Amino acid sequence: SAPTPQELLTIAVEVARDAAATAHRMRAEGVSVAATKSTATDVVTAADRAVERQVLGALRARRPGDAVLGEEYGAGKTGPAAEDGVRWIVDPIDGTVNYLYGLPYCAVSLAAEVGGEVVAGVVRNVVTGEEWTATAGGGAWRDGERLRCSTETDLGQALVATGFGYDAGRRAHQARVVAELIPHVRDIRRMGAAALDLCLAAEGRVDAYYEKGLAAWDLAAGGLVAREAGLLVTGLSGRPPGPDLVIAAPPALFEPLHTRLAALDASGGP
Ligand code: IPD
Repeated sequence: SAPTPQELLTIAVEVARDAAATAHRMRAEGVSVAATKSTATDVVTAADRAVERQVLGALRARRPGDAVLGEEYGAGKTGPAAEDGVRWIVDPIDGTVNYLYGLPYCAVSLAAEVGGEVVAGVVRNVVTGEEWTATAGGGAWRDGERLRCSTETDLGQALVATGFGYDAGRRAHQARVVAELIPHVRDIRRMGAAALDLCLAAEGRVDAYYEKGLAAWDLAAGGLVAREAGLLVTGLSGRPPGPDLVIAAPPALFEPLHTRLAALDASGGP
């Protein structure tokens, strides 16, 4: 029979803790850029690859039949998920640039999908050891504490996190959106790891978050944590969240933020 979300979360937490320990140890040993991806600033370190390989191995040992989608190796090494099968979505190090610079805002993100729906997810900060978890219908938690999103109702008082892609044209468009949005919010934060931004929104350490250009591995686990803490997590105009735009906002802030982002064409540009 299909595993329960709780069973999948238990595996995810074990695997993510070991992965975070590896990333932490490799950081202490010194880190350098191993390669660049989409642009010269879209970097991958040896740790990104080693951690993803470790996660793939650990998942294969525990659940050999499952499919895996990972940031560094894609879906390459496993087949597609069966219709009601399990697919794991791995970001070995979200916030790679922070990791490279030794900034304490980077995380291992691991989620499990069943039948295409994310049902369990964990995000673990590699440096601080803070750990956020969620299961579909089971709530969002940090280190044993149940999370609720912000109760702010005024966009003008809202602290809004966002992020930028690696492509220069996209960044220029994203900067224009920020420039137009910033007079209408308390302030903007660009901390550098989408999965952690979503987890901070889950506990009201920021009020809301939006970004264009997220990949599945940036969104999967943190998106579930945010939803289970009460945020609405969507794209523009009722579309699902995805590469065009992710908006994560408490119900009272959703409409005003969505209206602004739509007017600013936040999902447009390259
Ligand atoms: C990036 C970070 C960043 C976000 C980018 C992501 P990576 O992930 O989450 O905050 O703005 O869109 O690509 O490359 O560090 O795994």
